[in-house]
Amino acid sequence: MSANSCLKIMSELNPHFDLIVSQLLAQMSLEEKIGQMSQLAGHEGWIPEHLIHALQAGKVGSVLNEVDLRTVNELQRIAVEESRLGIPLLIGRDVIHGFKTIFPIPLGQAASWSEEVVEQGARVSALESSTCGVNWTFAPMIDISRDPRWGRIAESLGEDPYLCSTLGVAMVKGFQGKNLKDTGSIAACAKHFAGYGASESGRDYNTANIPENELRNVYLPPFKAAADAGVATFMASFSDLNGVPASGNEWLMKEVLREEWNYPGFVVSDWDSIRQLTVHGFTANDKEAAFEAANAGIDMEMVSSTYHDHLQALVAEGKIDIEQIDFMVGRILTLKYDLGLFDNPYTDPSSLPKVLADENIAAAKQAALKSCVLLKNSNNVLPISTNAVNSLAVIGPLANDGYEQLGTWIFDGEAQHSQTCLQAIKDFVGDDVEVKYAKALKNTRSDDQDAFEHAIAMAKSSDVALMFLGEESILSGEAHCRSTIDLPGSQEQLIEAIAETGTPIVLVVMAGRPLTLTNIVDKVDSILYAWHPGTMGGPAIADLIFGVKSPSGKLPVTFPRTVGQIPLYYAQKHTGKPATNDSFVHMNDIPERAAQTSLGMAATHLDTHFSPLFSFGYGLSYSKFEYSNITLSKNNIAIGDTLTISVQLTNTGDYDSDEIAQLYIRDLVGSVTRPVKELKGFQRIHLTAGETKTIHFELSSDDLAFYDRKMQLNAEPGQFHLWLGGSSEASLRTEFNLIDAK
Ligand code: NOJ
Repeated sequence: MSANSCLKIMSELNPHFDLIVSQLLAQMSLEEKIGQMSQLAGHEGWIPEHLIHALQAGKVGSVLNEVDLRTVNELQRIAVEESRLGIPLLIGRDVIHGFKTIFPIPLGQAASWSEEVVEQGARVSALESSTCGVNWTFAPMIDISRDPRWGRIAESLGEDPYLCSTLGVAMVKGFQGKNLKDTGSIAACAKHFAGYGASESGRDYNTANIPENELRNVYLPPFKAAADAGVATFMASFSDLNGVPASGNEWLMKEVLREEWNYPGFVVSDWDSIRQLTVHGFTANDKEAAFEAANAGIDMEMVSSTYHDHLQALVAEGKIDIEQIDFMVGRILTLKYDLGLFDNPYTDPSSLPKVLADENIAAAKQAALKSCVLLKNSNNVLPISTNAVNSLAVIGPLANDGYEQLGTWIFDGEAQHSQTCLQAIKDFVGDDVEVKYAKALKNTRSDDQDAFEHAIAMAKSSDVALMFLGEESILSGEAHCRSTIDLPGSQEQLIEAIAETGTPIVLVVMAGRPLTLTNIVDKVDSILYAWHPGTMGGPAIADLIFGVKSPSGKLPVTFPRTVGQIPLYYAQKHTGKPATNDSFVHMNDIPERAAQTSLGMAATHLDTHFSPLFSFGYGLSYSKFEYSNITLSKNNIAIGDTLTISVQLTNTGDYDSDEIAQLYIRDLVGSVTRPVKELKGFQRIHLTAGETKTIHFELSSDDLAFYDRKMQLNAEPGQFHLWLGGSSEASLRTEFNLIDAK
């Protein structure tokens, strides 16, 4: 596509584009244009001389990581009043799951399966960060994440393309509001385009090799959904995708993003990722790196200076077309225009609600309540009735740690605002129940067991032991990957020691990833998985422990039994030799010198069952739910038609509770093999004890489409299975056919 036709497409897509191109671009020197394509790091409260000069010379389009309001307004003033053309700045910040009021980590929010929770979390984050002049966040992170070793799974919305797309769009809406110009709306950024979640062996920044068909069917849909929802920007991934690092990947950025998707927003590199094209061995030097990135269409360079240093020469040499530069700068200016920065670049916090406002704190509590997943509850140890116990032993390094409960990526969150579990439990039970506390381990990684004795004695003399274990914040997030994902340090030994007392154990896990809980799952009575729950983790968890609310979260990601099962996800392919219980043979059951064919001959490991410990979509409630009577509006749908599916959902237990009804399909025969189950719909439904509701889902033939062997998106006629239930193991099934009406 020529740059001219790009400009034409841009002005068709965005009515403001023409105006900016004609009025502003016409006046800009090439140096000033390249300036707009450069993002520099802030200096936390001061502006060094070199930055002042760069701003005055119009050599900066954006500053990231400056949240001191006075400094931000001063940066804007210099850009607007002291540069030749007075172009305001984009102020970027990683506001990932809250600014001052911290919500559960994104993976936790995904466990709420609630668009409302996710949108509200992003709205509060936008309002709060706007008070400091931030107008652009680097979220949502919508990398499909199927490897819990990868630290950034914490920042993701889980393993499933449908759930991730739906919640990613909700997050975009929350950040961007109804109109980017509105006070308190900030630009969102869909990241990391693309395939970052498939980093080999779960090591951050590692190579990703993803066949194009899988890329299109699994990894790209959340990005397409975000683009369709109007996300203002995209960020290129650090990683190498099939041999071409994303920051120089012309196919991905031009062919897919621009030509197939007609995406009008702009693409920012990741931090230093253009310069790193040379480190990858993709380019020989910074100049080549600048060429590859600009040629691919990375509009803005984050922090490194290859554009600043080399783009002018590349244009002079005729390697990069000036129209291509105009096109890129035009996209950046368009966002500034859409944000209203040309009208008013300054921030007056009095025009915004206060940070940590009561309603923000209340929203964070709701999010934490809905994000916790009850994985186990033997003998209904939970909820605890305060009438039934005299004393509680609160044990563990995460029971009273306001910092660690906040999780990764909380640049602006402060532990002093956190409400911890220990405090919330004490507040809840008042004088009625004695609450004893033992930290037992210095931190989650500690192997010093000296304090175990005190914790054991406390558990012995208590009615229930409430254990708060997991991972500190720093063990997940960017560049914090693990090769084993058991509870670190001596936490398993602590559980074993407390279990020996015979006192019932409720284990609350705070972690940034699914942990392998196989070693301890049988040693505790209940497990409440709280992720890193944020500022209001304590009161939310106390409400769940004491039954004010029933847990209602469901897993957005599969929990493996052991790290060797990874990658393990529900939407796997059937294979030619699917694992079944009949074919499964454990190695201890194999006779010595058995003939080779006696090994089951199926896609299994010998030393662990093929199933996960806890499946995608799984989560218990204090109540029980029954699904019955699936009916379909028709058994055969034609291409272009929509099917209505109805099912009766009954709360057969004693608690009012939310249930997350999940709809899965399987396309039995495809021109490329299809997953054994695919999520196609979900609803969070509130049912009082004993109540029945009939709920309806709609499925159109477009929802059945997938990329085929020729990379065409089509729904293929044939038979489908359809399940409804409370997890990916739903067993209530029906069938329908997609027919070719022609
Ligand atoms: C690197 C991370 O990969 C990205 O997600 C983040 O937004 C940028 N740094 C900016 O901090």
